[in-house]
Amino acid sequence: MPKRVLITEPIPGKAEAYLKSAGFEVTVGTRKEFDEEQALKAALNEFDGAITMLSNPVNKTVLKENPQLKIVANYAVGYNNIDVEAARSLGIHIANTPDVLSEATADIALLLLLATSRKIREAEDQLRQGEFDGWHPLGFLGTELHGKTAGIVGMGRIGGAIARRLRGFSINVLYHNRNRVNESVEQQTEATYCAEIDDMLPMCDFLFLSSPLTPQTHHIINETRLHLLKSESIIINTGRGPLIDEEALASALISGKIAGAGLDVFEKEPEIHPSLLKAPNTVLLPHIGSATRETREAMGMMAAKAVATVLNEEDIRDLPNIVV
Ligand code: GLV
Ligand code: GLV
Repeated sequence: MPKRVLITEPIPGKAEAYLKSAGFEVTVGTRKEFDEEQALKAALNEFDGAITMLSNPVNKTVLKENPQLKIVANYAVGYNNIDVEAARSLGIHIANTPDVLSEATADIALLLLLATSRKIREAEDQLRQGEFDGWHPLGFLGTELHGKTAGIVGMGRIGGAIARRLRGFSINVLYHNRNRVNESVEQQTEATYCAEIDDMLPMCDFLFLSSPLTPQTHHIINETRLHLLKSESIIINTGRGPLIDEEALASALISGKIAGAGLDVFEKEPEIHPSLLKAPNTVLLPHIGSATRETREAMGMMAAKAVATVLNEEDIRDLPNIVV
């Protein structure tokens, strides 16, 4: 009997065809079909492996009811939707899609910085409303990037790709990370380590968040830390929504405690905090960090290869994306 793989919703590229040509029976779900625990738990019974989305709750209950699973490959670099410890104890492998999305995600981080620092949203809105009445010395004064200082919280592959881009804009780069990164990464990115985040924040004109969401990084930017930032500072979040206390962020933006925010991720996706929608100089994107055709196709192949390798009982040691 061929082994069976569920891809919980359609993904671009050749992943499905690759798995089929490798002899697997592949079922592709529909969008949102498996975003509830009950539906996911029941459906997985039929499968040996799965490619899942961030919106699929691969929690302890779901895994415990499906001990026949050999692998769950998350179609994302982050896997905070998966109970990794439960998977480990059940002997189910978990994979993700690191590296292939770092450049695309770093592009979105820079897009958010450029958009907020030059007030793009307000400027374009005014033009579209027919209110552009000619060049104006006082119109939409933004802030220069050149010579400023940025802090990056989370110096993984995405943080490093953001740092390289910032150096291209002649921005000084500081970073805070759970562990100091190795010397070659520091040299390549020209980023300076700050052991204490609270020491770094007052120096930042721009603050980038690119860490994974863990109990340690939940609300790593809270009300107290927002008060350590300069009033001209701009926050960019391409990591996970709950890295920031969104309520506190919205208040800081509305009161002018900080100057802007560019967010690609939110605390309760797909809900957007109503105060954020009203906050000034705030650019909000619908979680599109990895959304390029090239990247999304590469993510699919990376997930599919992990699934095929595990289900074929081949050596997984050379795979770059096995979490457990
Ligand atoms: C998307 O947010 C991802 O983790 O890949
Ligand atoms: C993960 O790869 C990250 O850069 O946070």
